[in-house]
Amino acid sequence: MKAALIFLIIFTTTAIYVEARSAKEHEHHNVLGHDRPEGGINNIRTYEDASYWNSNMQKDLRDQLNKSPIIKQAKNIIFFLGDGTSISTLTAARILKGQSTGNYEEEVMAYENFPYSTLIKTYSLDKQVTDSAASATAYLTGVKGFQRTIGVDSNVPRYNCTQMLNPEYHSHSILKNFQDAGRSTGVVTVTRVTHASPAGNYAHTANRDWENDADMNDEGYDSDACDDVAEQLVLGDTGSKIKVIMGGGREKFEPKDLVDPEGHHGDRDDGKNLIDTWRTEKEALGNTEYIWHRDELLNLDTSNTEYLMGLFDDDHMSWEIEGDESNPSLAEMTKAAIEVLSNDDNGYYLFVEGGNIDRAHHQNEAHAAMLEALAFEEAIALADSMTSVEDTLIIVTADHSHSFVINGYADRGTDILGIGDQSDIDGLPFTTLLYANGPGYSKKNNNGQRPDPTPVYNNPHYKYDSAVPMDSAHHAGEDVILYARGPHAHLFTGIHENAYIPHALRYAACVGDGLQFCDANK
Ligand SMILES: *[C@@H]1O[C@H](CO)[C@@H](O)[C@H](O)[C@H]1NC(C)=O
Ligand SMILES: [Zn+2]
Repeated sequence: MKAALIFLIIFTTTAIYVEARSAKEHEHHNVLGHDRPEGGINNIRTYEDASYWNSNMQKDLRDQLNKSPIIKQAKNIIFFLGDGTSISTLTAARILKGQSTGNYEEEVMAYENFPYSTLIKTYSLDKQVTDSAASATAYLTGVKGFQRTIGVDSNVPRYNCTQMLNPEYHSHSILKNFQDAGRSTGVVTVTRVTHASPAGNYAHTANRDWENDADMNDEGYDSDACDDVAEQLVLGDTGSKIKVIMGGGREKFEPKDLVDPEGHHGDRDDGKNLIDTWRTEKEALGNTEYIWHRDELLNLDTSNTEYLMGLFDDDHMSWEIEGDESNPSLAEMTKAAIEVLSNDDNGYYLFVEGGNIDRAHHQNEAHAAMLEALAFEEAIALADSMTSVEDTLIIVTADHSHSFVINGYADRGTDILGIGDQSDIDGLPFTTLLYANGPGYSKKNNNGQRPDPTPVYNNPHYKYDSAVPMDSAHHAGEDVILYARGPHAHLFTGIHENAYIPHALRYAACVGDGLQFCDANK
């Protein structure tokens, strides 16, 4: 009996090994997952022996010994923010990319080559688990605020318009610090440009949902008393000085009776067309481009553009998985933004948000979230290649985690989006990726069993299972990671509060009121 079992195991393993090898030789697995291997590919190669590990780890050690901090002023800062990009998101995306390159678990992402990293604590002023507004306030202005408030301190409770109007309670972003120092600034995202994370760069509001006047009116607040986020972007002290703005969210800037080129209505009650206002004001200052289609972005003469607004969707931009041709990729927007901002010899600050990672996680759509994470990495790799480590500090981090796990003892080489293991209680398979809460929750069937994910997980919009039902998954509270390269990247080691980030950036770039490298070295 035992011998037969061992034979069966050897036979099966060998068969799978041969199959996997031929699959690897004949297919270039594509990240969209159409050609991805079925679950259970193990032994994708012979297992690496001691000589492999010893020589590779010695090389890793030599690289580590050769790291040295770059102690110079950072002329430029590029801040990459993966919304809801937990460490588990980064790991799963790494494996998914590895499935397309053949490197599987050993794949190395662009930011993994950055020499420094630190853990970041993300709790907000009042909650163990933060939302994107409170976290943006912390990682962009250096001050923690209440949940769902942006750019204001503890004197401004949520919804309190009166307190919000008091400039003494405003906390200012690293973006504004760059503007005050006469350097250029830009904000790029795939969400609405008025959404919480991008707004953290330029807005001060008691409620992140007040993106336009209709949002305030609908909730019964006086939209004449306090400026909405779209108004703050176009007319505010900080917002109006931003040279590059790209993302989605046209509806927040346009009146209800206006139909845009893609057939969508605006969403403003006050009849204002803030896109027109922006164009008129910027055209008086220099070469200005307003664009709404990917083709316009790809044909843009960036060397002759001083002010650029690209609003590619009425709402959030589409997910990668939807393949919307009118929407540029995050990398394409990042490239144009760097080119336009590089026209300023004094340097620039650019904020780039992979905002749809979070939105897909909220739906428990892990496949979609992974493709967004790969698009985020593509943008980082491009920025890394377009800029010098000698003058450009690049950081890559997240605002908070999601309750997304990589679980089960799947064999190496198993499709990360697939079935990895089975329960020893109900005997049913489960996916390697799961969530703690969200809409993926599946009710038990008539036999009191949870459903078998095998027939359904391959649907690209499959909602991975969650333990607790929720319309929209909640964020998670453990620390996130921050990767850094360039001047003063070594300020990011160990573990820090999210509010520490802009303090370190200001030091490196010699802006703001706190400690500055340039003062310390006069
Ligand atoms: C706003 O906050 C102030 C100070 O805490 C408070 O006195 C006032 O009643 C609040 N207003 C509203 C509308 O909650
Ligand atoms: Zn979120």
